[in-house]
Amino acid sequence: MASVNARVLLLFVVSALSCFAVVSSQSFEIDYKNDCFLKDGRPFRYISGSIHYNRIPSYYWKDRLLKMFMAGLNAIQIYVPWNYHETVQNQYNFKGDRDLEHFLQLANDIGLLVILRPGPYICAEWEMGGLPAWLLKKKDILLRTMDADYIAAVDRWMGELLPRIKPFLYQNGGPIITVQVENEYGSYFACDFNYLRHLMKLFRSHLGEEVVLFTTDGAGLGYLKCGTLQGLYATVDFGPGGNVTSQFMVQRHAEPNGPLVNSEFYTGWLDHWGEAHSIVNKDVIVKSLNEILLHGANVNLYMFIGGTNFGYWNGANSPFASQPTSYDYDSPLSEAGDLTEKYFAIRDVIKMFKDVPQGPVPPSTPKFSYGAVQMKKLQTVSSALDLISFSGPVKSIFPLTFIDLDQNFGFILYRTLLPKDYINPTPLSSPLNGIHDRAYITLDGVPAGILERDKILSINITGKAGGQLDILVENMGRINYGKYINDFKGLVSNLTLGADILTGWNIYTLNIDEVIGRGLLNKAEELNHRSVAPANLTSPAFYRGSFEIPSGIPDLPQDTYIQFPEWRKGQVWINGFNLGRYWPARGPQITLYVPAHILSTSAPNNVTVLELERSPCEYGPCVVEFVSTPILNATVPHSTKHKHLYVKDFV
Ligand SMILES: *[C@@H]1O[C@H](CO)[C@@H](O)[C@H](O)[C@H]1NC(C)=O
Ligand SMILES: *[C@@H]1O[C@H](CO)[C@@H](O)[C@H](O)[C@H]1NC(C)=O
Ligand SMILES: *[C@@H]1O[C@H](CO)[C@@H](O)[C@H](O)[C@H]1NC(C)=O
Ligand SMILES: *[C@@H]1O[C@H](CO)[C@@H](O)[C@H](O)[C@H]1NC(C)=O
Ligand SMILES: *[C@@H]1O[C@H](CO)[C@@H](O)[C@H](O)[C@H]1NC(C)=O
Ligand SMILES: *[C@@H]1O[C@H](CO)[C@@H](O)[C@H](O)[C@H]1NC(C)=O
Repeated sequence: MASVNARVLLLFVVSALSCFAVVSSQSFEIDYKNDCFLKDGRPFRYISGSIHYNRIPSYYWKDRLLKMFMAGLNAIQIYVPWNYHETVQNQYNFKGDRDLEHFLQLANDIGLLVILRPGPYICAEWEMGGLPAWLLKKKDILLRTMDADYIAAVDRWMGELLPRIKPFLYQNGGPIITVQVENEYGSYFACDFNYLRHLMKLFRSHLGEEVVLFTTDGAGLGYLKCGTLQGLYATVDFGPGGNVTSQFMVQRHAEPNGPLVNSEFYTGWLDHWGEAHSIVNKDVIVKSLNEILLHGANVNLYMFIGGTNFGYWNGANSPFASQPTSYDYDSPLSEAGDLTEKYFAIRDVIKMFKDVPQGPVPPSTPKFSYGAVQMKKLQTVSSALDLISFSGPVKSIFPLTFIDLDQNFGFILYRTLLPKDYINPTPLSSPLNGIHDRAYITLDGVPAGILERDKILSINITGKAGGQLDILVENMGRINYGKYINDFKGLVSNLTLGADILTGWNIYTLNIDEVIGRGLLNKAEELNHRSVAPANLTSPAFYRGSFEIPSGIPDLPQDTYIQFPEWRKGQVWINGFNLGRYWPARGPQITLYVPAHILSTSAPNNVTVLELERSPCEYGPCVVEFVSTPILNATVPHSTKHKHLYVKDFV
């Protein structure tokens, strides 16, 4: 350790001398002679943390950034999710929670440098790894390659994004010191060097020759092979607990000289529905972080704050397992921005290597339990189609996918009639595993069962000719990593009933978010108790309740968490804001984070729930509850036909 310290010290002295001449304007570059970055001509090392502005309401950006600054970080690392800004092709959105320039300005004002990772692919456990679903309009598109249509879309997007970025480059007076090209490209099968080369030229043409461009790959020689390119500085990523020296030797293989950089040092890990909540022990992090810093290396802590996959933005892995709404990640700052023991442990490590800002760390935001809210049934999805399907049904002999129908997210209802009598239990099945991703099935309004991608491929039904079969299909988030990122949603192959291929579909695209946002969903249905079917399920339906913020208590509204006692799986909105998916029947996430700014003190707050499996309202009183502490670690054991061993080594 002593020799490492001496070497670092020597390095700083030498570089300080050798670089003394070039200091008049802002510059950021790589010093290959002295194995370091140079900022304004002086040796510089960053200790950075990842934050995803797209997972935090803009209302809280400043609070989170300030806490990162107070931890002693001198930089942050951010992704730009393409599909968040160009959700509809050629319509760019940089407003409100998508105001990237405002976020960069805040970071700059607080004194944090920025390591920018604009993709186009970002992985990040984000829907389709940040790629817009509309790219799949070309059915056989080869994503992340020189595919002409993919490249044309990338060029247009970068032509929109990068000119906005340019004024924020460090050499132009802004906070951005380095820019990553693509993301762990060495983990992707395509290995298209022309594609990486194209991106390098594209970035250079928009951002200029000066900016440091880099790549990140797993710390294994196999990953560097297809992930690195001459002209892009190669960095690696690895988590705590391993051999820091040997992992940096992998980077040295690609970059014999220049700064050591771990671009993703994992402070926690991701979750999947139905699996145990990931926890990474802080002592292991402290030990490895200390070693990394003793190596004189630059490091980015992934994540420093994870945040939330609001709405439909979560990604998924393959074999199909989607990520929950919370992206807490067991990070040093919790999903809600709260300080943790891990935060202070990391700050203590950083303190040994550089000054951390004096003064109090901004406190965790207070949380409030607003209590139980009585819920009331509105309509079933099937009975509300006139209201929630703006365009009405599309007729098709065989099923069409979400993309065919120009709906990227949420739910689509497929309706057909039984072609004949099925007196005996007959398998309704998706022989080609074509339910993407979960289907809630009713026959003549009575729940008949659930099909699930990679898990439940067949259920038995009985029915009469002409019986109305409704299949509500949920898109649970597109695969964000690996070979299968071309993830089509809906019924992507035929359904069979016994030996018959079902045909003659009426397919309803659904505008649920618009309808809820505009407060149009308000017709209450007579509750008919005992409507729980033999399958022990209830038809997918909407429920609503409202609550008021109590008066006479100072500083309300405050953040809170919502939980769903006796509910099973669905989607929830508060005042039209889509909070995300709940699935306590599987876990590990039980509570959903509710940021204070979506709550109102001047009108009743409206909670709308779309319960897909089984609502407690059908057999008694039903409530949702607002509580002051999160529960993210309660996995419910469930039986699945095939137990998949899910392997994913890098984010
Ligand atoms: C870590 O790796 C280095 C380089 O391969 C090796 O010299 C060293 O012995 C390893 N340390 C441990 C504790 O295994
Ligand atoms: C469907 O019914 C058949 C015959 O009655 C039975 O053998 C099979 O196990 C059933 N399948 C399921 C998924 O219940
Ligand atoms: C559905 O079945 C028809 C008839 O066999 C076939 O032509 C069509 O390609 C199938 N569709 C899908 C998506 O598999
Ligand atoms: C139906 O579900 C409820 C709530 O999940 C459970 O308590 C009950 O035992 C189930 N009934 C059957 C017949 O499976
Ligand atoms: C909740 O819904 C009611 C009735 O539709 C409406 O008057 C009220 O403004 C809504 N509350 C909020 C905060 O939007
Ligand atoms: C979940 O986390 C809480 C708080 O850290 C802990 O008290 C509890 O034991 C954990 N539960 C499980 C099932 O791990």
